[in-house]
Amino acid sequence: MLVNTKEILIHAKENKYAVPAFNVENMEMMQAVIEAATELRSPVILQTTPSTLRYASPEFFCGMATFASKKADVPIAMHLDHGDSYELAVKCLAAGYSSAMYDGSKHEFDENAAVTKKVVDLAKFFDVHVEGELGRVGGKEDDLVVEHAKYTDPDEAVEFVKVTGVSSLAVAIGTVHGVYKEEPNLNFEILEEIQKKVSVPLVLHGTSGVDDEDVKKAISLGICKVNYATDLRQAFTKEVSKYMLEEKNPLDPKKYLALGRQSVKEYCKNKILVCGSNNRY
Ligand code: 13P
Ligand code: ZN
Ligand code: NA
Repeated sequence: MLVNTKEILIHAKENKYAVPAFNVENMEMMQAVIEAATELRSPVILQTTPSTLRYASPEFFCGMATFASKKADVPIAMHLDHGDSYELAVKCLAAGYSSAMYDGSKHEFDENAAVTKKVVDLAKFFDVHVEGELGRVGGKEDDLVVEHAKYTDPDEAVEFVKVTGVSSLAVAIGTVHGVYKEEPNLNFEILEEIQKKVSVPLVLHGTSGVDDEDVKKAISLGICKVNYATDLRQAFTKEVSKYMLEEKNPLDPKKYLALGRQSVKEYCKNKILVCGSNNRY
């Protein structure tokens, strides 16, 4: 069965590690993540963005994840990443997602909080955990482009968690979605302050391209969920492109998709070790 993210994130928080959350876009990426987690005995969160859910339906992704979770003996959650509307949350929860994010960070505080609370209230019927976001993570995630990043304000974060009832909070501390144009520069002081004031598990977005040591430091300061997306796409696509260039008559999708899958699996195993989530179950 797919697990609720609340318990696995609390377990991570209490034991000072983070659960890795990997964005998947097809069956092969999902298999890669699950194989990596199973081999290293790590809890894991599979997640899909709105644009991925326009590529294939929530039922499709959730169907695969549910099947895989029945066989796996580590906790697996299926999470809506950067949900951009109440309606999409309804769709995913009805399809069986075990976790959801509503990202209203582009809105002003009041509107963000109001819709987030609505999603939290809805999710209660499904016994599902909701991640909110306050502050703005910069960069490009699929078709979501944020030009003006904004650090999370620690006092606002306290208020936001209180009024919305979210079970985890995505914070903006200087990471950027997608590929970094400049060196990533994380603001650990802000993270420390947020952690002191906010009791729910904190989430790091935009982690592709961030130095592993910085990720570990962020985890020591309260990050309990670490999101990786762009790197998985790169790992997958690089192997497929290589095959296409080298092979004279490429034909069988299984041949190149398996190469992409293997590469994503290796990547995920590395990041599980960075998150310290191995051998937890
Ligand atoms: P990256 O694409 O930078 O890894 O960001 C992942 C993310 O935050 C998914 O929500
Ligand atoms: Zn993100
Ligand atoms: Na990034």
